[in-house]
Amino acid sequence: MQKQKIIVLTGAGISAESGIPTFRGGDGLWEGHDIMDVASPIGWKKDRNLVLNFYNERRKVANNAKPNKGHIILAELENYYDVTIITQNVDSLHEKAGSTNVIHLHGKLSESRSSLDESLIYPIVGDILAEGEKCEKGSQLRPNIVWFGEDVPLMQEAAEITSEADFFIIVGTSLQVYPAANLIDYVPKGCESIIIDPSIPTNSNISGIKTIQEKGSVGLPILMDYLMKLG
Ligand code: OAD
Repeated sequence: MQKQKIIVLTGAGISAESGIPTFRGGDGLWEGHDIMDVASPIGWKKDRNLVLNFYNERRKVANNAKPNKGHIILAELENYYDVTIITQNVDSLHEKAGSTNVIHLHGKLSESRSSLDESLIYPIVGDILAEGEKCEKGSQLRPNIVWFGEDVPLMQEAAEITSEADFFIIVGTSLQVYPAANLIDYVPKGCESIIIDPSIPTNSNISGIKTIQEKGSVGLPILMDYLMKLG
């Protein structure tokens, strides 16, 4: 029998228990940084080194982080369901946990790309992408991250996959960033949706969705139990 499809939209909250800070709220990354300085084409034009250093720091933290119980449960779900994870996270913790089907909507810390030609993408070995590292066309390499004001190239694919979901699970995202937050609007009728977050977002398009108001490490085992009881 064909496995049912679970689509999981994850955000920074799922990696919080692995020691990677979230973006918003008390200790969030954006409290200490101006988004436009470090995560926009304007910031890149203004001060490349500031941007490169910002992502070198993020990469160092991510490279040293280990997946937590939440990531591991999502990987285990593949034993029972056809799982696709659509993550806004730029770390590789879903892959490290064993998930095999991960769409990185906002790019990856582990990759660089040409600042002239976005189709030229290269792996970053180690923690550092430095000033002077160039693509084969001679332009400075930048992190392969989707910045504010840029298109999200994988959005169409993510929307199509979401439109085939039997279950749509949202974990650890404030749903404040678009177009990612719009994915909810592609969930088909009859699909069961569940949000897991210690602080449930208040977007109008999530009214009626079931909630598990817990951290990932607590909420995902509850979800797993629930799905197993469905048989
Ligand atoms: P946010 O920082 O906006 O939201 C994090 C969410 O995680 C909040 O809803 C928290 O309540 C929740 N949370 C905190 N601890 C948690 C835990 N242990 N388990 C589960 N949930 C927890 O992060 P995102 O929604 O991911 O984009 O942010 C979206 C995008 O904004 C990011 O991808 C990034 C940022 O600007 C780019 O940099 C392009």
